[in-house]
Amino acid sequence: MKSLGTQGLILNEKLLFEHSDAGRKGYSLPRLDVPPARLPAALVREEVSGFPELSEVDVVRHFTRLSTWNYGVDSGFYPLGSCTMKYNPKVNEVAARTPGMAAAHPSTPDHLSQGALALMHDLQEALAEISGFPAVTLQPAAGAHGELAGMLMIRAWHEAQGNSRKKVLIPDTAHGTNPATAALCGYEVVPIASDGVLSAAAVAAAMGGEVAALMITNPNTLGLFEAQIREICQIIHDGGGLVYCDGANLNALMGIARPGDMGIDVMHFNLHKTFSTPHGGGGPGSGPVGVTAVLAPFLPVPVVVEEQGTYRLEVDRPLSIGRMKAFGGHFGIMVRAWAYIRSMGGEGLKRASEMAVLNANYIRARLEGTYHLPYTARSLHEVVFSDRDLGGNCHTLDLAKRLIDYGYHPPTIYFPLVVKGAIMIEPTETESKEVIDEFCDAMLSIAAEAGENPDLLHQAPKKTRVGRMDETGAARKPRLKWEK
Ligand SMILES: Cc1ncc(COP(=O)(O)O)c(C=O)c1O
Repeated sequence: MKSLGTQGLILNEKLLFEHSDAGRKGYSLPRLDVPPARLPAALVREEVSGFPELSEVDVVRHFTRLSTWNYGVDSGFYPLGSCTMKYNPKVNEVAARTPGMAAAHPSTPDHLSQGALALMHDLQEALAEISGFPAVTLQPAAGAHGELAGMLMIRAWHEAQGNSRKKVLIPDTAHGTNPATAALCGYEVVPIASDGVLSAAAVAAAMGGEVAALMITNPNTLGLFEAQIREICQIIHDGGGLVYCDGANLNALMGIARPGDMGIDVMHFNLHKTFSTPHGGGGPGSGPVGVTAVLAPFLPVPVVVEEQGTYRLEVDRPLSIGRMKAFGGHFGIMVRAWAYIRSMGGEGLKRASEMAVLNANYIRARLEGTYHLPYTARSLHEVVFSDRDLGGNCHTLDLAKRLIDYGYHPPTIYFPLVVKGAIMIEPTETESKEVIDEFCDAMLSIAAEAGENPDLLHQAPKKTRVGRMDETGAARKPRLKWEK
């Protein structure tokens, strides 16, 4: 099979320190026409030891070369399951760089920030419409931060009833952030076993007077829709608890189904996944949270409110859980998400979800039979295989490394934890049939190699600048400091 990966002109790159030459400068300033002013001696260092001295062209070439080593959604297919690495249309960037948006200062008084506040309000309303929750906060800075905001609201609601329950139920298919969030809010995490999807009977068996909430991801991390969600919500509500939905996988549902209509009480969105804003490398993301009317008084402050066409930030909300983030949150990400929603429209968002599901199922159909599919319920936007049937003592990690030689970013591996040797593929809606076919051809080719010449997998990647790394060593003993 013809591989996309080649070995082109990939230059070696020294560290900036190694490029340095004494006396080189990257700037030139006009001759001083005022008397020089000296800084207080206590603030001045004699010398900065080893500080690199470089010309402008040294610096530009260094960073330009480094940038060509990077792989992103603008370089190629990025099938990272659960992370929804979909292409971010450039019109979103244009919107975020509009001077009025990019230079808006968050301390500007409300009456001079009407445009920015109107955009935030409009985004809140759009998210409310898409999800079926009447109230939304935009403050949280990421999905996990949204979970924290949501669970703090659930805790505040229980406390307002004079009821401090201790436990949170979490199915075994949950994203790792879910139990971490529940524990951070002081709850005891009670795992529930599922058979791919959670059964109402399992929830009923685990329910009790100490249960504050259930945290459920829907569609879950196997890419499966939690079909019994209505009954499950009913059981939790009847028992006096609330239901938190991890909405990070909304890419499968937009315009088709609304979590707020399913009985869920709180849900976070990952703007940086579903609504096409850039992510990776740690952010910045944005994790708005939608809640039912009952929980609206607990939203973090400030809340953007509109009165007769004028917008303001409301802070006086006595039941609020307080502030989750400086100012309004990651405003630039909100502008991008707003631009995406506006440019897609309702029909476009629905179409995006349909295409995301279609693409995942196309991959499933092409790879099933060669790769083992541990859960056979209908897939939504992502599909999880396992390495069970790979020959030649080859495992998921070997497959992932070999995919790099073929020119692909590997999918998510060894997650979710309920699947041994998991390979979690999420193509998203932005990939064409041609791209997906080439990827599937590569996957099939690698499966054949595993049987015929397993060393190709064991030794991969071969075409990269750096071969197979000691990943445990890199994580446990990182060398982050330059030393002569
Ligand atoms: C299902 C699920 N929940 C929660 C999160 C956490 O989101 P974040 O990484 O923005 O904190 C993710 C991240 O990808 C996710 O896939």
